[in-house]
Amino acid sequence: MTSSTTRFDKAYPELGTGRIPVEPYISEQYFERERRYLFPNVWLHVGRVEELAESGAFFVKDLDVPNVSLLLTRDAAGTVFAFHNVCSHRCNRVVRERAGVAKRFSCGFHGWVYGLDGALVGVPDEDQFFDFKRTEHALTPVACETWEGFIFVCLAEQPIESLSSFLGDHFRALEGYPFGRLQACFSWNTEVRCNWKLAQDAFQETYHVPYVHQHSIADALAVNDNPSMHPIACRLSGYHRKVSVAGNPKTVYGNPKAVNDPEMKSYNNPDKPIGSAALRAGIGGSKERFDIEALPAGMNPSNHPDWAFDINGIFPDFYLSLRPNYYQAYNFRPISVDRNRFEGRVYYPKMETAGGRFYQEYMKCMLRDVLLEDWSNLEILQQAIASGAKDEMVFQDNEILLRHSFHEIDNYINARMSETPPVAN
Ligand code: FES
Ligand SMILES: [Fe+2]
Repeated sequence: MTSSTTRFDKAYPELGTGRIPVEPYISEQYFERERRYLFPNVWLHVGRVEELAESGAFFVKDLDVPNVSLLLTRDAAGTVFAFHNVCSHRCNRVVRERAGVAKRFSCGFHGWVYGLDGALVGVPDEDQFFDFKRTEHALTPVACETWEGFIFVCLAEQPIESLSSFLGDHFRALEGYPFGRLQACFSWNTEVRCNWKLAQDAFQETYHVPYVHQHSIADALAVNDNPSMHPIACRLSGYHRKVSVAGNPKTVYGNPKAVNDPEMKSYNNPDKPIGSAALRAGIGGSKERFDIEALPAGMNPSNHPDWAFDINGIFPDFYLSLRPNYYQAYNFRPISVDRNRFEGRVYYPKMETAGGRFYQEYMKCMLRDVLLEDWSNLEILQQAIASGAKDEMVFQDNEILLRHSFHEIDNYINARMSETPPVAN
């Protein structure tokens, strides 16, 4: 079977092939259900352990949904903690800096002091309080666990399941990917005027690439027998999902031989002279080497010879695209029914030469342009859906991750709603 004829619908009949309602993308009521039943209960990715590299390192993570400010810390024993960034005295924000290194945290309102483990360790004029016990006034902890260096939090007082159970076999099959050797990073943080699921959907299918990205990266996915860029493999398991995507090994963008392979010293694509120069300059830019054969079994599960990268969808809003020598970690954070915050990070090996940095800057600019192509399309798409002209959308086989995402979110919300007693009027 060639890549262009691989079909996924038969492998996942429970998803059906029917139309999908537009309501979850435009309805205030649906957004309210997500805000109340989905995001407070699931594990949410908030960063990497490299951001807490030493004892006392901390960073603050603000989320619009749920509406929280979180303080992430690491203590001398190496334990990573998450707390609500709210003082136990009169609920001030304790930490105003975005990140740093500290021995303790002092609230700016009346000087209460907390340790790296959240314990209350200092109270000015303490004997004027009543029946006061410091142990009753620590920072409020938030469930926090890590997987392969990714930090996740769950805002529920009692998480329904552990992070390990939540991620399940889908992500155990990715353990061993060289996350620890890809620690250099560039990032974007921007507000986009569309529903968070509409944004995420656009990163879960390649059907749009020949059109939205025809002038930027369409050639990177162009494989002769697969003009519509149908994925070469699909795995759905529980909440999570993935597809494998084929690529053009001669492309400038995302070339799998970039940086490491001396063969690229003579690379020349006459249509992309700057990109070609960047690829040539980047050879030898990093001391790291990456062996496709050593990647974990969960990557390129069909062992396709044209494989380029995998798109992993971590429920509900985390996109993890893994390539042999770099990866992208994107979150689509809800703000309101028609606005989301895109937090995009790209992790790559540390570049040691000027040529390596030039290559990396080229990749950064390329990806920036690709993202702008997506955002400008998505903001118009949101307006078009909100017009009410259509009640439903039609998904094809390439869009199976969108279909899976729709069903998993809807099922999750319905399950939580059925567990929750109705609110009395
Ligand atoms: S609110 Fe923090 S010390 Fe008063
Ligand atoms: Fe796109």
